[in-house]
Amino acid sequence: MSKSITFKVQPGGTLHGEVRVPGDKSISHRSIMLGSLADGTTHVTGFLEAEDALATLQAFKDMGVVIEGPENGQVTIHGVGKHGLKAPARDLYLGNSGTSMRLLSGLLSGQAFDSVLTGDKSLSGRPMKRVTEPLAAMGADIKTTEQGTAPLRIFGRAGQLKGIDYTMPMASAQVKSCLLLAGMYAQGKTSVTEPAPTRDHTERMLAGFAYPVKREGNKVIITADGQLKATDIDVPSDISSAAFFLVGASIAPGSDVLLKHVGINPTRTGVVDILKLMGANIEILNQREVGGEPVADLHVVYSPLKGIDIPEALVPLAIDEFPVLFVAAACAEGQTRLTGAEELRVKESDRIQVMADGLQILGVSAEPTADGMIIQGGTIGGGEVISHGDHRIAMSFAIAALKASKSITIHDCENVNTSFPGFKILAQQLGLNIAEEIL
Ligand code: S3P
Repeated sequence: MSKSITFKVQPGGTLHGEVRVPGDKSISHRSIMLGSLADGTTHVTGFLEAEDALATLQAFKDMGVVIEGPENGQVTIHGVGKHGLKAPARDLYLGNSGTSMRLLSGLLSGQAFDSVLTGDKSLSGRPMKRVTEPLAAMGADIKTTEQGTAPLRIFGRAGQLKGIDYTMPMASAQVKSCLLLAGMYAQGKTSVTEPAPTRDHTERMLAGFAYPVKREGNKVIITADGQLKATDIDVPSDISSAAFFLVGASIAPGSDVLLKHVGINPTRTGVVDILKLMGANIEILNQREVGGEPVADLHVVYSPLKGIDIPEALVPLAIDEFPVLFVAAACAEGQTRLTGAEELRVKESDRIQVMADGLQILGVSAEPTADGMIIQGGTIGGGEVISHGDHRIAMSFAIAALKASKSITIHDCENVNTSFPGFKILAQQLGLNIAEEIL
């Protein structure tokens, strides 16, 4: 049996100080993937040493890539070139990581070997047809369970994939990236059209590795005519991890926090825009560009929040931040309404149901809907909630304690290590009264 971690968080407190949260998860995954396929040696700094990104790293080691590190966020990848991956001797186990599984399914469809992708219980329940169907249209051969879930058995079709023009039915950076990676091995042109802008780290990093990729409006186009040239990557801090403290400092009177070196790619900053619409006091300081990604320091000072109707256009730009935004809504004056976010139901957990259940236990009026939630702001009580193995749910309820009247106990917090190792220690440094029980 693996260990079980419970967070116990005492009510109240303020957040104060300066921190650098760990590296961006999306960019860390992609640095390993593209670094492995490049010609030459890629040095990565600021790499996220957390289970999800390490699952990607291990998968590439299993496919014969020599990777040194990570050590203090530094990774050296000895690229094998676009056609240099080797058949793995075992199934590739990707843990909790949807990004690893969906992006790898595209990349592995065009290889000269077969592979099997597996994951933990949560990942094995997540929908994979969103990638296997368009990949099949390109000529890929992937077997899933009857429900369209992992394990994915991929029969490599080197030289046989054909480019398609695909319009995604949902706004998904994982689906877009999967098809772009498959497109690097397909005959002709592959284009992916997105219904709304989603994170564009794959496109930016491909360009950083000198691989031709074109954007025309909401369409991204790639072909197999290109090679990746090794480069150095400085991974900024993850705005999705910074989000916990953006909300924490916004709801706890007297708080004043500086979050250093945070990635502020405009496809990721929905959380800042939504909090500002709610009345948050967030300043974006010292803006700069690091390795093709915009970076800044975020200064957040307590400010009373008010409820809003969240603009649907911001939903894909804040897709991972809704658990903690629901906590902000619970502390705001008036009603907050989220719509157009049905994707939340198929994340690491059903984030609409799990957050509504937990907020109700804490005495908050939270009504789940098919595609969002309606929350009446007010007071937060205390009690015991379950994260259902979802890292962002666990951290969100820990932050809620800043405004709770009694302590909050959160069960099932092991998976915080998938995205934010050291959360407890950083949160303590800033002033959250959080303790951990390991059973
Ligand atoms: C990610 C894309 C998003 C996000 C996930 C990471 C990525 O998923 O929720 O945490 O790195 O491409 P979808 O593309 O499924 O929305």
